[in-house]
Amino acid sequence: MQPLKTLNPDEFAALYARGRQVLPGGVCSSTRWNNAWQKPVYAQRSKGSRFWDIEGREFIDMSMSHGAALLGHAPECLKAVFDQVWEMGVLGSLDTPFHIELAEELCRIVPCAERVRFTNSGSEATLHALRLCRAASGRDKIIRFHGHFHGYHEFTFIGGHPPADQLDAQPPYRESPGIPKALAELVITAEYNNLSALESVIQRHKHEAGTLLIEPVDYNCGCILPEPGFLEAARRLCDEHGLILFFDEIQSFAKKSPGGAQQDFGVTPDIATIGKSLGASLPLSAICGKAELMDLFKPVGNVAHSGTFNAPLTSMLAGLAFVREIQRPEFWNTINTLGDQLFPAMLDIAARSTVPVRIQHHGSRFGITFGTRDKVTNYRQSLCHTRERMLKFCLETTNRGVYFHDYGGGACHHGYSSMHTPSDIARVLQVVEDSLKQVK
Ligand SMILES: Cc1ncc(COP(=O)(O)O)c(C=O)c1O
Repeated sequence: MQPLKTLNPDEFAALYARGRQVLPGGVCSSTRWNNAWQKPVYAQRSKGSRFWDIEGREFIDMSMSHGAALLGHAPECLKAVFDQVWEMGVLGSLDTPFHIELAEELCRIVPCAERVRFTNSGSEATLHALRLCRAASGRDKIIRFHGHFHGYHEFTFIGGHPPADQLDAQPPYRESPGIPKALAELVITAEYNNLSALESVIQRHKHEAGTLLIEPVDYNCGCILPEPGFLEAARRLCDEHGLILFFDEIQSFAKKSPGGAQQDFGVTPDIATIGKSLGASLPLSAICGKAELMDLFKPVGNVAHSGTFNAPLTSMLAGLAFVREIQRPEFWNTINTLGDQLFPAMLDIAARSTVPVRIQHHGSRFGITFGTRDKVTNYRQSLCHTRERMLKFCLETTNRGVYFHDYGGGACHHGYSSMHTPSDIARVLQVVEDSLKQVK
C-alpha cells in the first residue's frame, strides 16, 4: 500500500467534503472533529511520541490516543504481534492459551482480579460489568458521581457531566438525546469526595441501589484525585450496606503503577474495568473481579456475556506485550522521570499565567482547568472551567507543533507516553508557556 500523500489546503478541503458525504461530519467518532481547528484531524502516520496530519504537520502528541498509546505510537512490540497472528491464522472467535496467559498476568497485577473477562472498548466493559453487578445484587439502581465518565452507552451516559442548572435534576441529566428517561431513573448521583453526602445517599437508597460506581481518579474532569480516606470510606460503606464497589479503571489502569488506582491508593474494589492502554493501542479492555462475582458469568453462572469479536488474538498478544512492559522497572523509571521534568515546571508556568488555570496530575496523565487556581476536588468546583480558553489553548499549542486534544473545550485529560523524550517534554513546556500567554 502507498504511503498517504501530504495534502495542500485545497486537497484537504476536497477530502473533507468527500468525508462529509459518507461519514456524519466527516468523522468516525464525534470527538475527532476538532472544535479548536473547526475541522477534523485526519492523520497521515504516527510513530513514538509524534503524529503527522494529512497536511504534513508534525506534532508532539499530548493526547496519545486518549491514553491508549502509553507505549508510544506504533511500538516495536506490535510488529511481532501482527506477524504471530498471521502465522497462527486465528483471527477471531476462538480462545487460545494466550488468552489464559493474559488473564493470569492480570490476576497477578490487578489487586481485585481473581477472574477476567475481555471486552474490546471501555464502554463495552462497563456495560457488561453493570449487568453482572445487577445480577449479583438483585438491585437495578446504581450510585455514581458527577464528573466521572464510564462510557457512552445508555446506562452510564447519565448524570456524569450535567450543565450547572441540571446538577440536582431528578432523574439525572441525560447526556445525549436518545437515552430513555426510564434508564435515568436507574441512576443516583452523588458528589465526589463528599463523604457525608455519600453516606446519606447510600442510607437513602441502599434498598434499591446495589452498586457504587467510581472513576477513582476522575481523569474525565480535569484529573480529580480522591481525597485521603475517601476511597477507604467508600469501601467501608459498601461493606456495611451490601453494595458492590465497582472501580472504573479504564483510564487509571497502569497510569502510576501496574495495578491501577486500586494499587496506588490501596483500596480493593469488588470489580473493576480496565482498558485504554491495555492493548498497547489496539482495542482491548477487561472486567476483573472477585471469583464469586465473575463466576456468575455463563457458562459457570447464568449471566450472559458473549460476542463474535470478544478477545481477538491480536489484542491478546498486544495485551501480553503491554503487561510485560509495565512490569519492567525501567518502564516506570521513564514514566516517573518524564513526570518529574514535566509537572513541577508546568505548575510553575500555571502559577505565572495571567489567566487562572489549575493543573492536576496522576501518573502519566493530567488535567487542565481554566477559571481557577484552587485545588479542584469535585465536579461542582470544575464548573468554573471556561471552554473558550481551553479551545484557544489547544489552537495555540497545535499551531506550535504540540497536540493537545480539544475535548470540545472540556477540562479533560492529557498525557505522555514512555516514548516521549526529555527534549519532547522541554518543547512541550515552552509551547505551553507561550500558548498560555495568548489565552485571555
Ligand atoms: C473511565 C472511563 N470509562 C470508560 C471509558 C470508555 O472507554 P471507550 O472510549 O474505550 O469506550 C473511558 C474513555 O475515555 C473512560 O475514561
